[in-house]
Amino acid sequence: MKKDLKKVLVTEKEIKSKIKEMGEAISQDYQGKEILVVGILKGSVVFMGDLVRKIKLPLQIDFMEVSSYGKSTESSGAVRILKDLETNIEGRNVLIVEDIVDTGLTLSYLVKILKARKPASLKICTFLNKPSRRKVALEADYNGYDIPDEFVVGYGLDFNEKYRNIPYVAVLKPEAYQKD
Ligand code: XMP
Ligand code: MG
Repeated sequence: MKKDLKKVLVTEKEIKSKIKEMGEAISQDYQGKEILVVGILKGSVVFMGDLVRKIKLPLQIDFMEVSSYGKSTESSGAVRILKDLETNIEGRNVLIVEDIVDTGLTLSYLVKILKARKPASLKICTFLNKPSRRKVALEADYNGYDIPDEFVVGYGLDFNEKYRNIPYVAVLKPEAYQKD
């Protein structure tokens, strides 16, 4: 697996301290409230597992899975819901957890859908962010790391469902996704 990686962008140590920081910020901001953490499958699961353990609030979790039409390394903007929430979010404080915001198209679409369901509040928490790739104005409320425009894997992020279990974030060698 390691031979497919070009360089490490975020180390395990950096991930650990960032998650702690993000968990503390969320716990502060929602003090006295209960939240519903919504993970976007599948990329967010590793991050979400670490994050929720650093949030000192009563919380529940739920998941959504969406698929964007288009090539595997690029999203097209049209989004299809593959798995919807089990929870009624009306009146709830919803925190969406994503692995990465790239063009912003997936999340802006999701935000639109979820807002229509009248949550008390709706915020976005992403571990990674590629600001240079944005196609729509979208700012996460909690943002781990800004990264350059390179395809990354690990810490939940995949290429063709591989590499999610790498415990750090790394740039994939172009050869690795060309051959696949
Ligand atoms: P948009 O463009 O809608 O896309 O913000 C967000 C989704 O695109 C995927 N994505 C990546 N996945 N490495 C990945 O493994 C990347 O570098 C990358 N960039 C975007 C990801 O599924 C995210 O939820
Ligand atoms: Mg993904």
